[in-house]
Amino acid sequence: MSESLLIDRFGRAHDYLRISVTDQCNLRCVYCMPEEGMEFLSNDKVMSFDEIVAVVKAGAELGIRKLRITGGEPLVRKDIEVLIARLSAIPGIEDISLTTNGLLLERKADALHAAGLNRVNISLDTLDSSRFRMISRRGGLDQVLKGIEAASRVGFHPIKLNCVLLKGMNEDEIPDFLRMTLEHPLHVRFIEYMPIGHADDTWRSHYLPLQSVLDKAKELGYLVAKEERVKGNGPSEDFRIEGAVGTFGLIHPISDHFCKNCNRLRLTADGNLKPCLYWVDELNVRECASDPEALKAMFFRALDIKPENHEMAEKLWDAAQSHVPTDRRMSQIGG
Ligand code: GTP
Ligand code: 5AD
Ligand code: SF4
Repeated sequence: MSESLLIDRFGRAHDYLRISVTDQCNLRCVYCMPEEGMEFLSNDKVMSFDEIVAVVKAGAELGIRKLRITGGEPLVRKDIEVLIARLSAIPGIEDISLTTNGLLLERKADALHAAGLNRVNISLDTLDSSRFRMISRRGGLDQVLKGIEAASRVGFHPIKLNCVLLKGMNEDEIPDFLRMTLEHPLHVRFIEYMPIGHADDTWRSHYLPLQSVLDKAKELGYLVAKEERVKGNGPSEDFRIEGAVGTFGLIHPISDHFCKNCNRLRLTADGNLKPCLYWVDELNVRECASDPEALKAMFFRALDIKPENHEMAEKLWDAAQSHVPTDRRMSQIGG
């Protein structure tokens, strides 16, 4: 396959598109959306499968090779496996993965695998069910664990677990998550809590830099080495504890951002191409979904307005921002 034509003003080549298929979710995680007051898209505002396929076809002709299906929670979108089968048939698409909270995975794993999905990343912030209820403001840890088992049974590989570290809420579970990698062929990713769509007191009091994971591993006497072999398209820096079957990764957008290697664009459920997770800028592509050339032009316009980096770390100190941050919550972008 040819190299990507999607090069931005800073020389970054883009081959990865994250597609949010719904803003709905069956959980209400504290770091992702507020408990009340969220307004969800009505059905007519959500991109149809035909429209999503049209956008991906245009992107694939320009160099998009990797897709990630996100939400909200993508498995609440009806017939999601039908969309995945259609996307996997698009020439040029080489890897399709999905980020899920795992609640519906046990039920859907077989159909997703049969549709051509390659990989799943599953959110898992705690191994304690009452804590799970507190963080997700709902519940269902057992169901998520069954979803992880089902993912492994049908043969998704690698299976990644996404753990957003929250000071005072789950940081004491770092040893348990690290230990999990010793005997299980899983890839556990620790993620820094990001102030997307908000930088309120919750974020200020619960943000935890990921150096704490490496410090904890050292304290536990583990020998940790960099790991190059974990398949992925995202920003994770990967490691393995000596002798472990599994691996772990660190996603540290705040303490050490990775924007200079950014290879991705996002498509929101309501049809906006979003060049950066953090900033407000986006372009509506739904309006031109029936015109392949116009769609391609939109990809290039999105690259033209893509910023060099985000300024989440600066938010920590309340410095003025160079531009306007998004007011979308994470569930309306898909991470
Ligand atoms: P792989 O292909 O498996 O590497 O997936 P991924 O890490 O790209 O996807 P996933 O949806 O599992 O994302 C994990 C975490 O990384 C989430 O918290 C995302 O919000 C975060 N993330 C992904 N891309 C970006 C990015 O461009 N910027 C920032 N700041 N965070 C990102
Ligand atoms: N900061 C960091 N990660 C987040 N996620 C959702 N909200 C946030 C946030 N504010 C993670 C979820 C999921 C992925 C899509 O993004 O846990 O794994
Ligand atoms: Fe739902 Fe995922 Fe947001 Fe939790 S993080 S509320 S599971 S979209």
